[in-house]
Amino acid sequence: MSGAWTPADIGDLTGRTAVVTGPTLGGLGFHTALELARHGARVVLAGRTPDKLGAAAEAIAAEVRGATTEALVVDLSDLASVRAAGAAATRFGPLHLLVNNAGIMAPPLRRTTDGLESQMATNHFGPFLLTGLLLEQLAVSGDGRVVTLSSQMHRVARSAPVGDPRASRRYSRWHVYGQTKLANLLFTFELDRRLRAAGIPVRALAAHPGLAGTHLAVNGQLGTTSGLRAAVLDRAVKLVSQSAEGGAAPTLMAAAADLPGATYVGPSGPGEASGPPRVVGSARLARDEVAQRRLWETSEETVGLSWPQPRG
Ligand SMILES: NC(=O)c1ccc[n+]([C@@H]2O[C@H](COP(=O)([O-])OP(=O)(O)OC[C@H]3O[C@@H](n4cnc5c(N)ncnc54)[C@H](OP(=O)(O)O)[C@@H]3O)[C@@H](O)[C@H]2O)c1
Repeated sequence: MSGAWTPADIGDLTGRTAVVTGPTLGGLGFHTALELARHGARVVLAGRTPDKLGAAAEAIAAEVRGATTEALVVDLSDLASVRAAGAAATRFGPLHLLVNNAGIMAPPLRRTTDGLESQMATNHFGPFLLTGLLLEQLAVSGDGRVVTLSSQMHRVARSAPVGDPRASRRYSRWHVYGQTKLANLLFTFELDRRLRAAGIPVRALAAHPGLAGTHLAVNGQLGTTSGLRAAVLDRAVKLVSQSAEGGAAPTLMAAAADLPGATYVGPSGPGEASGPPRVVGSARLARDEVAQRRLWETSEETVGLSWPQPRG
């Protein structure tokens, strides 16, 4: 490979199946799914809003002749919904890629039906459980990957979210968002270590998009993508960001380039805000193995699933 990696470097994905969470039009997940379909993958569009999954499938079909997409309904903030999705996903057979892309940023405090704060539930505990439930399908493909979306905001977290997740504590929406994105890296590094220890042929990598012009800010701040205020905020975000398509490139590189597990990919421009993707570093706290293990144990207890099991 010479020069910067681009999505044109993705090889032929015919015969491979990828699950992408949060594929709503305008977001990073949509562009990730579109590009994977363009290269021949069957793409499972996994999200909480059936109409939006339909719209994403239609848009992919319009761009990619003969694309194969499937829908998987899952609300990642609801552990029962994730369990149901895990069971429903067995119909897809072997999986080669899971992209944990869906996420929310800095909404007002809300507790989920499981008693969890909504950002931690959506950005970490739901993806943790979904990944655990899909692991066997990723393993049987013989060459599975899990790519989880983090953020430069992981650097603002002053501590790892390893305490009792149901305890009530003062809520700082940006601090908690940073902690969820730190959790995405702690999870990735611990998952990759556990997979290798268990001899499971699946790699875990992470990616961040820099600043990308999506609906993340309006969804978190306003709870809707319609109306004048949403249009103004969306526009302001787009003015300072790279495109959603450009923001998906690090995810695609983590998903398709020849990289070892535990690699983190982000944009190569100043401050890692934009530009072609490359391998990047992470904050020291993300590489703290004690925090990685404690988050893993807390997560297993919280979602009620111990994994991965060693292969017999
Ligand atoms: N954009 C950036 O600059 C940026 C920077 C750093 C990291 N990231 C990360 O990139 C990822 C994608 O964000 P984005 O920028 O593309 O934001 P986005 O446009 O708001 O898309 C977020 C996606 O997540 C889905 N989602 C939210 N809550 C969900 C739930 N409970 N269950 C299932 N799906 C849910 C949304 O579905 P609905 O449409 O149905 O709500 C949507 O498809 C996130 O993990 C985010 O933290 C983004």
